[in-house]
Amino acid sequence: MKLQDSVIAITGGGQGLGRAMAEYLAAKGARLALIDLIPEKLDEAAAACDKAGGSAKTYICNVAREEDVEKTFEAIAKDFGQLDGLVNNAGILRDGLLVKAKEGQVEKRMELSQWQAVIDVNLTGVFLCGREAATQMIRNGNQGVIINIASIARAGNMGQSNYSAAKAGVSALVPVWAKELARYGIRCMGIAPGFIETEMTASMKPEALERMSASIPLKRMGKPEEIASAAVFIFENDYMSGRMLEVDGALRL
Ligand SMILES: NC(=O)c1ccc[n+]([C@@H]2O[C@H](COP(=O)([O-])OP(=O)(O)OC[C@H]3O[C@@H](n4cnc5c(N)ncnc54)[C@H](O)[C@@H]3O)[C@@H](O)[C@H]2O)c1
Repeated sequence: MKLQDSVIAITGGGQGLGRAMAEYLAAKGARLALIDLIPEKLDEAAAACDKAGGSAKTYICNVAREEDVEKTFEAIAKDFGQLDGLVNNAGILRDGLLVKAKEGQVEKRMELSQWQAVIDVNLTGVFLCGREAATQMIRNGNQGVIINIASIARAGNMGQSNYSAAKAGVSALVPVWAKELARYGIRCMGIAPGFIETEMTASMKPEALERMSASIPLKRMGKPEEIASAAVFIFENDYMSGRMLEVDGALRL
């Protein structure tokens, strides 16, 4: 797919990996539809896209709400008249052990609300946005690419029952959608990042972050641009579909 003048929607485009991908794609001439919850972050990201040589429109939308997502993708179709790509990137963390006990006494458990919040955004949000994007691409009769951002945690990370389950789920959707949507000229790929320097990882406990960085064979966290360049590679290579790209400095959980 040629990125010049293409229209790419990015969820969670206001900061972190979403914003880095937006800027990287803008520099290749793409027009961005940035989707996020936080208006100020969206404005900053859109300004950065303009500066990088592309352009961006912003959409305030909770990806976990069906009505929001439907309205947003209808607005994108109206504003741009086409949709060539979607990066399903919005995600949250609500970490905690399934059950935490000391000397036989259960002290803490993962709350259902912790579980549900992460499933709603990280898994249901991907389903909803993927469905609406595919609908618009098919209606417009153009080819397209959907990228689901998973995580190395899809293999199962301690303290992340909710997050690991959601990321395993969005990884499973990649071959499903690649098979179902190929007949319409739509490809679907996933990226499973390792530990990348963003606001999300900055919110982790420093000792956990230090322990994690030390265990990465390349001995450093990844940079958002390194995920953005993987996304560009996927968009531009028309024979890639149904697979995950692992960008993790050789870390294995
Ligand atoms: N940073 C990492 O090390 C890392 C590693 C593996 C995977 N990931 C994944 O990459 C993606 C981006 O992570 P990040 O580090 O940039 O996170 P981040 O917290 O820096 O940014 C996430 C963005 O998503 C937005 N968002 C959250 N909930 C939303 C909702 N319901 N609707 C719309 N927007 C919403 C936030 O406002 C924010 O702008 C996530 O899916 C995350 O799970 C990150």
